[in-house]
Amino acid sequence: MKKVQSLILVAIFFYLAYTQLVNGQPRKGCQTSCGNVSIEYPFGTSPGCYYADDPSFYLTCNETGNLLFGVIEVINMSHSGELRIKDEISYACYNSLGDLDRNLYYTYTLGNLSLSHKNKFNVVGCNALALLSTLGTENYSTGCLSTCNSPRRVNGDCHGAGCCRTDVSVPFHSESFETRPSRLENMTSVHGFNPCTYAFLAEDGSFHFNGLEDLKNLRNVNDFPVVLDWSIGNRTCDQVGNRSICSKNNSICFDSPPARRHGYNCKCIEGYEGNPYLSNEHGCQDIDECTTNSTIHKHNCSDPSTCRNKDRGFYCKCQSGYRLDTTTMSCTRKDFEWATILLGTTIGFLSILLVSSCVKQRRKNRKTTELQQKFFQQNGGGILVQRLSGGGTSNANIKIFTDESMKEATNGYEESRILGQGGQGTVYKGVLPDNSVVAIKKARLGGDSSQVEQFINEVLVLSQINHRNVVKLLGCCLETEVPLLVYEFINSGTLSDHLHGSLFGPSLTWEQRLRIAVEIAGTLAYLHSSASIPIIHRDVKTANILLDESLTTKVADFGASRLIPMDKEQLTTMVQGTLGYLDPEYYNTGLLNEKSDVYSFGVVLMELLSGQKALCFERPHQSKHIVSYFASATKENKVYEVIDAKVLTEDNKREIKEVARIAVECTRLMGEERPKMKEVAAELEGLRVTKDKHKWSDQYPEETENLVGVHIISAQGGSSTIGYDSIENVARLHIEAGC
Ligand SMILES: *[C@@H]1O[C@H](CO)[C@@H](O)[C@H](O)[C@H]1NC(C)=O
Ligand SMILES: *[C@@H]1O[C@H](CO)[C@@H](O)[C@H](O)[C@H]1NC(C)=O
Ligand SMILES: *[C@@H]1O[C@H](CO)[C@@H](O)[C@H](O)[C@H]1NC(C)=O
Ligand SMILES: *[C@@H]1O[C@H](CO)[C@@H](O)[C@H](O)[C@H]1NC(C)=O
Ligand SMILES: *[C@@H]1O[C@H](CO)[C@@H](O)[C@H](O)[C@H]1NC(C)=O
Ligand SMILES: *[C@@H]1O[C@H](CO)[C@@H](O)[C@H](O)[C@H]1NC(C)=O
Ligand SMILES: *[C@@H]1O[C@H](CO)[C@@H](O)[C@H](O)[C@H]1NC(C)=O
Ligand SMILES: *[C@@H]1O[C@H](CO)[C@@H](O)[C@H](O)[C@H]1NC(C)=O
Ligand SMILES: *[C@@H]1O[C@H](CO)[C@@H](O)[C@H](O)[C@H]1NC(C)=O
Ligand SMILES: *[C@@H]1O[C@H](CO)[C@@H](O)[C@H](O)[C@H]1NC(C)=O
Ligand SMILES: *[C@@H]1O[C@H](CO)[C@@H](O)[C@H](O)[C@H]1NC(C)=O
Repeated sequence: MKKVQSLILVAIFFYLAYTQLVNGQPRKGCQTSCGNVSIEYPFGTSPGCYYADDPSFYLTCNETGNLLFGVIEVINMSHSGELRIKDEISYACYNSLGDLDRNLYYTYTLGNLSLSHKNKFNVVGCNALALLSTLGTENYSTGCLSTCNSPRRVNGDCHGAGCCRTDVSVPFHSESFETRPSRLENMTSVHGFNPCTYAFLAEDGSFHFNGLEDLKNLRNVNDFPVVLDWSIGNRTCDQVGNRSICSKNNSICFDSPPARRHGYNCKCIEGYEGNPYLSNEHGCQDIDECTTNSTIHKHNCSDPSTCRNKDRGFYCKCQSGYRLDTTTMSCTRKDFEWATILLGTTIGFLSILLVSSCVKQRRKNRKTTELQQKFFQQNGGGILVQRLSGGGTSNANIKIFTDESMKEATNGYEESRILGQGGQGTVYKGVLPDNSVVAIKKARLGGDSSQVEQFINEVLVLSQINHRNVVKLLGCCLETEVPLLVYEFINSGTLSDHLHGSLFGPSLTWEQRLRIAVEIAGTLAYLHSSASIPIIHRDVKTANILLDESLTTKVADFGASRLIPMDKEQLTTMVQGTLGYLDPEYYNTGLLNEKSDVYSFGVVLMELLSGQKALCFERPHQSKHIVSYFASATKENKVYEVIDAKVLTEDNKREIKEVARIAVECTRLMGEERPKMKEVAAELEGLRVTKDKHKWSDQYPEETENLVGVHIISAQGGSSTIGYDSIENVARLHIEAGC
C-alpha cells in the first residue's frame, strides 16, 4: 500500500511540474542563482524550472557554487539566446626528443545548443596543426597551421607565426565538438621555447596572444569564454504563433538566425525590461526611466524633477507657462502669441484704469467727506448736536440735512430753482425725498467762532417758533461751506410783490392790508415780548413778508435776527438792515433794540397805506424817503394825498387816518418815542375789531407754550452777544429803491 501511495505522490509531483510547463512557465520557488551566476528561465536547475521540452536547458549547481552545463562551467546567460561557458585549453606537449609527452583533448557535448559565430578557434605553437571537429548528423572539421623555426619570428600577432586563429562556422545541429592540437614534424629545435601545442575556442576578442610567454606555457592561463547559442524549440515564431512562451503582452518573439539555428527567442518590448520568457512579476515590466540606474534607459530631462514615467517611456513635464525644448530636454518659457500679449495688455491697462479711477473716486469721496466734516464743525454742527442731545431743548424740532440731500433737493443748485437772490443770500426751491416743497436758503455767516455759536442759537430758537405768521424753519445743513437753512415753502410771493409788482392780479384791498398789518404787528409783538427771549427781526420790510394762497402773512428771513439777552434792553451790533427801513437811531449808534423793528414796521405800514416804495427817488427832494413823505403830508394835513387811491374810500377814511398816525408814531426819530410793538398791535387790532365787529381772537397764549425750551438757550447764548461786533463800523446795508 505504501508503495502505491508514494507512486501516486511521485505521479502528482510530475503532473504538477508538467502542468506548470504546459503554460510555458516555471513553477514557483526555482533557484535563481548559483554562486555569482544568476539562473534565468528557460534555464533551470530542477524539474519544473527549466523549459521542459528541452533537457539542454537543464543546469546543475555543484557544492562549490559553480553552475555547470554538463561538465562545463557557465559564466552567464542572456535572454537573447546566448550562454557563456568556460572552455578549457586542449594541449599536446612533447619532450626534448620530440616525443609526445602528455596531452589533453577536450570534448564538449552541446545538446540542442550550438557554437556561436562569435567564437574563434585559436592555436598556439610552432609548426603546430590543430583541428576543431564536430560530431552530429554532419561531421565537420576545421583547423589552422602555425609555423615558426626560431623565436625571433614570433611577435604579438596571431597571424600564423606561433599563433593562428580561424572563424568557426560549424553546423547548428552538432551534438558535440572537440579541439585536438598536434605537430607537423620532429620539432626538437623549438622545444626550448615551445614544448607544447595549444588549441581552444574563445569568444572573439577575449584572447590576446602574448608571444613567447604564451608559447612557453599557456596551460596556467585561465579559461576563455565560449559563446553558445540557444533558442526555444525548432520552429519559427510564425509556426508557433500564440503558443510561444514569450510573455503575452509585453514581450515579442523573434526568430533565431535561420542560417545557424532553428527556433525562436523572446525579448521585451521597447521601454520594458525583465525576463521575456516569464509572465510573472519578473517578466517584462515598464521601465521607470525617472528612477532607473540603467544608463541605457535613464531619462534625459535636464531637470530630473520634471521627469514623469509613462507606459513604454517617459516625458518631461514642464510647469505651466513653460514648454519643453526637445533638443536640450529642458523647460523654456513659452513664447506668448501676439493675441495673448494684446489681450493681456488690454486687460492689464483696463484694470489699471479701473483701479486708479476707483482709487481716485475714493480719495475724492474721502476728501469730500473730510471737507464736509470740516464745514460741519466750522458751521457749529458740533454745538448744535450737543444742544440737541442735551436736555431742555426737546421742543427744538430741527432736522440736520446732509450735503447730498440738499444737492438732490435743489437738483445740484440749479439756476432755475432760484426763488430769489437778496442781500441775505440766495433762496432755492427744493423738493425733499418725501415730495414736500421747501425753500433752501444759503445763510450768510462770518468765520468767527462767537458768531457761529450765536448762529446755532438762533437756528435753535427759530426752529422752536411755531407761530402761524412766521415761516417755519425746518432744519439746516452745516456740511457746506455756507450753511443752508431749510424753510417751509410759501408760494404766493412777498408783500412787496403784491404792493409794487404786477405779477399778482388785483391789488390788495384795504381790509386785506389792514389784516396783514395786524398780523405783522402781532407777530413782531410776539417775538419782542411774548417769547421768553426777545427776538429782534432786524430786517422787517415788505420783501420779507411772504403771503400764502389765502394771503396769510408769513414773516420770513430771520437771517439778521438777534436775540436780546434777558438782562439787556439793547445790544450793540454791526449795523445791518435795508436802507429805507433802517432805524436811523440804530444806524447812528449801532445800539440795537426792539424799537428798531418798530421803525421798520412803521415803514411797512406806510407802504401798505400809500402803495409806494420806501425809497423813491422820483418823489420831490424832501419826500424821497417814505417817512419824510408821510411826515410832511401829515404836517400839512394832506394825509389823504399820500394814501393809495385804490383803497381810499369814504368808509375807511377814519381808519386810514388812524393807521397813518400809528405809522408816523412808529417812525419817530427817537426810539423812546415810538410805541411798543405790543401797543401797535393792539391799536391796529382794535381798529379791525370795531370795523369787522368781530371778536379779537387772542393767539398769543397758545403760541407761548411752544417756547418752553428757550430759557436755557438764552442763558447759554447770552454771554456771547454782549459787546461790540469786531467789525462794528462796517454797516451791511441793502438798498431797495425804486417807485
Ligand atoms: C564571485 O565573485 C567574487 C568577486 O567578484 C569572487 O571573489 C568569487 O570567487 C566568485 N565566486 C564564484 C563562485 O565564482
Ligand atoms: C564544481 O565545478 C568546478 C568547475 O567544474 C570544479 O572545479 C569543482 O571542483 C566542482 N566542485 C565540486 C564539489 O565538484
Ligand atoms: C557575460 O560575461 C561576459 C564575459 O565575462 C561579459 O562580457 C558579458 O557582459 C556578460 N553578460 C551578462 C549579461 O552578464
Ligand atoms: C533537443 O530538443 C528536443 C526537443 O526539441 C529534445 O527532444 C531533445 O531531447 C533535445 N536534445 C538534447 C540532447 O537535449
Ligand atoms: C562522424 O564521425 C564519427 C566518429 O568519428 C563516426 O562514427 C560517424 O559515422 C561519422 N558520421 C558521418 C555522417 O560520417
Ligand atoms: C628527431 O630528430 C632527432 C635529431 O634531429 C633524432 O634524434 C630523433 O630520432 C628524431 N625523432 C623522430 C621520431 O624522428
Ligand atoms: C523539431 O524537432 C522535433 C523533435 O526533435 C522533430 O520531430 C521535428 O522534425 C523538428 N522540426 C524541424 C523543423 O526541425
Ligand atoms: C491562439 O490563436 C488562435 C487563432 O489565431 C486562437 O484560436 C487561440 O485561441 C489562441 N490561443 C491562445 C492560447 O491564445
Ligand atoms: C496582459 O494583458 C491582459 C489583458 O490584455 C492583462 O489582463 C494582463 O494582466 C497582462 N499581463 C501583463 C503581464 O501585463
Ligand atoms: C540605483 O542605485 C542605488 C545606489 O547606487 C540603489 O540604492 C537603488 O536601489 C538603485 N535603483 C535601482 C532601480 O536599481
Ligand atoms: C531624449 O530621449 C528621447 C527618448 O528617449 C529621444 O527621442 C530624444 O532624442 C532624447 N533627446 C536628447 C537631447 O537626448
